[in-house]
Amino acid sequence: MHDTSILAGKHIILGITGGIAAYKSASLVRLFVKAGAEVQVIMTPNARQFIAPVTMSTLSGKPVITEFFTANSGEWHSHVDLGLWADAMVIAPATASTIGKMAGGVADNMLVTTYLSAKCPVFVAPAMDLDMMAHPSTTRNIEYLRSYGNHIIEPAAGELASHLIGKGRMEEPENIVAVLADFFARASKRDLDGKHVMVTAGPTHEPIDPVRYIANSSSGKMGYALAEKAARRGARVTLISGPVNISTSVPGIDVIHVTTARDMLEAAIATFKTADIAIMAAAVADYRPEVYHDHKIKRESDSGLQEITLVKNPDIAASLGKAKHHGQKLIGFALETDNEQANALSKIHRKNLDAIVLNSLRQGECFGVDTNIVKVFDRDGNILLDSPLKAKSDLADDILDVISSI
Ligand code: CTP
Repeated sequence: MHDTSILAGKHIILGITGGIAAYKSASLVRLFVKAGAEVQVIMTPNARQFIAPVTMSTLSGKPVITEFFTANSGEWHSHVDLGLWADAMVIAPATASTIGKMAGGVADNMLVTTYLSAKCPVFVAPAMDLDMMAHPSTTRNIEYLRSYGNHIIEPAAGELASHLIGKGRMEEPENIVAVLADFFARASKRDLDGKHVMVTAGPTHEPIDPVRYIANSSSGKMGYALAEKAARRGARVTLISGPVNISTSVPGIDVIHVTTARDMLEAAIATFKTADIAIMAAAVADYRPEVYHDHKIKRESDSGLQEITLVKNPDIAASLGKAKHHGQKLIGFALETDNEQANALSKIHRKNLDAIVLNSLRQGECFGVDTNIVKVFDRDGNILLDSPLKAKSDLADDILDVISSI
């Protein structure tokens, strides 16, 4: 049985939508209340067809909210106040329709309106028939929710209300409560207090002339997520970032902006001197143009560009691997299309890393998106983490857990 004591005193909004799995919400409230949490239930009008509000108000000890106003007293239920009151919002079961409304901001009921006002972490436990679950609109809407930072509690596969077998069963209440308990346990974790963590992130740009450069499509999201989570866990973080379209405002992070691989190397060598942990999440350009043209190369001129001679850039991770002293941890990333594991492991030894994070290159994962699938290996080839598809921010915590355990 999971330790749920961390939920004591937490304010939880439980949103219930109109699906057969709404009957499981009764157990969910009971488990939250048993763990010491205060629960405010909000039901959509349809949810009331599936489970009686009186059951939910009795179990939660609070009147259930469905409408914007209480009919006889005219009392207004402030979605803004509710959103501020909550430490977490859980929508279970979440139907395809509510997920669509949340993704699109359709605030036509109290539940979605409160969701849009909520400042707290939001957990969504989808439940629907397998074909609805597999429909591209559902998949896309769930991806939207993930990109807003919401946590998706994936439905399990099994027998559904339609008697069909497939993915769409709402996760069991015990497991939903465990997900929240883990979340709060992690959020209060300060295991990196007093540590200096260095992270490289994003691509590098290797200029050809004042307006052109060689680059790759790394977004920097994974590196930024690692820097933010490390800072939240108490570390002093130096984030060495190539050119990206994202920024961070989390306290405790010093950002050094660089453009080329050589700039990144210089910043990394200086920072590594005092770092306890270095995480090399940048997608460094392996080559740069040998010649930089001071003036924009003209298409028509005789000196127009026919070919670019490339020279090798320094290997930043390998340079740190040589400089590494006892007690420092150096973590690399690898992105492979062939012989994934063998190539990743050869990089660990070539660059003297302590662990390597192998990114998945399957469709829709890795570059530019908010989710990823990774495997982490140690120097002996042991798998330290084998993740499912997850939000990069959640993966960042998983990866930091692994690094702490090395
Ligand atoms: N890396 C680095 N400096 C470089 C190239 C890579 O610091 N010039 C780091 C990356 O940040 C990553 C690890 O080394 O942590 C592996 O990067 P990857 O590009 O996969 O490896 P390469 O050595 O460039 O090998 P290849 O491109 O041939 O797969």
